[in-house]
Amino acid sequence: MKSSRIPGFYKMPIEERVKIVKEFAGLSDEEAEMLLSFCALPKDIANIMIENVVGSMQLPLGIATNFIINGRELLIPMAIEETSVVAAASNAAKMARPDGFKAKATEPVMIGQIQILNPNRDAKEKILEHKDDIISLANAQDKILVELGGGAKDIEAKWLSDDMMVVHLLVDVRDAMGANAVNTMAEAVAPLLEKITGGKALLRIISNLAIYRLAEAEVIYRKENIGGEDVVDRVVKAYEFAVLDIFRAATHNKGIMNGIDAVVIATGNDWRAVEAGAHAYAAMNGYKPLTVWEKTEDGNLRGRIKLPLAVGIVGGATKVHPMAKICLKIMGVKTAKELAEIMAAVGLAQNFAALRALATKGIQAGHMKLHAQNIAVMAGAKGDEIEVVAKKMIEEGKIRMDRAKEILEDIRKE
Ligand code: MEV
Repeated sequence: MKSSRIPGFYKMPIEERVKIVKEFAGLSDEEAEMLLSFCALPKDIANIMIENVVGSMQLPLGIATNFIINGRELLIPMAIEETSVVAAASNAAKMARPDGFKAKATEPVMIGQIQILNPNRDAKEKILEHKDDIISLANAQDKILVELGGGAKDIEAKWLSDDMMVVHLLVDVRDAMGANAVNTMAEAVAPLLEKITGGKALLRIISNLAIYRLAEAEVIYRKENIGGEDVVDRVVKAYEFAVLDIFRAATHNKGIMNGIDAVVIATGNDWRAVEAGAHAYAAMNGYKPLTVWEKTEDGNLRGRIKLPLAVGIVGGATKVHPMAKICLKIMGVKTAKELAEIMAAVGLAQNFAALRALATKGIQAGHMKLHAQNIAVMAGAKGDEIEVVAKKMIEEGKIRMDRAKEILEDIRKE
């Protein structure tokens, strides 16, 4: 059976890593070459993705190893500019073995909002009376989605003030992120809603607070795998800090999104939508952490995460960007739901890694190596020089540009 536990992956040359990923995921020669090319977005594709294109902005794509999610061994592609995130996720996934993460997601139901101004007093009742007509009209806009088992399923109506009402169209978008389908339906039913309510429809747009499209994950870290019961207690206290203090909660959730966003970006999904959804969800009852950490009866650490994850595997950049296609293939995901489950597990792992580091040796220790390498590169080090300069700065405890330049001069003289 294939395993995502690949000791020493981080030390291998890039070519060797790609070879392993290729075999693990059954990538073609072309796909492996594309990874190695470090320029996977052709000019003509970039030029149809957005307007006024002049280039492409690249991010490093790393692979988090060691993940087991719902019993499946997984390599996770993560696109991110921040050092230590991929290493931290891999390390957290390693400590969760052999059980790994359990994850599940709801059906992919998104909300389309139609704002109605000055409706009649009986508007809410009338909307519910005409529910079937409204749903039929919405579904007439997207026969394919309906054939796939998706489509508009339900309606909600709510007064927001004396002269404003909102109607929610609940749409199962199957494997899409869903904005196109939902916005089209919301626009299509607006004139009918005006007729039914006697009001005027203004905005017709998806909501990024996707409370009906939630993903959850759970993990149990055995105390002996994470440094003992003391570490369990420290992580729980670190979590309680986030529950009690919004300043900490923001950073706690940022750490979770480090992991989730990296997978969202790698798969060509809309990370602004995911961010908006996550933070609005966290704020529904006063801004809170998106995870919960507690000690089990036998002294182990249980973690849970729950958040909206509106991500797709069809449509948008997921199917246009060549690298997004490869990343989806590496994870072998067959449905958007499965992708959301993976992201939830990665977010939970990322949060554990951050809390464990923060509550023990601090976050800076793990950052030093890559930070020193970055400084060495900025000072002009090339090839093998980078490692030598970085190592010397770490040994000296002086990770600064001026020192990097001096060391570089010295080794070049030698
Ligand atoms: C840094 O990108 C993320 C952390 O600040 C998250 C946290 O504090 O939990 C380390």
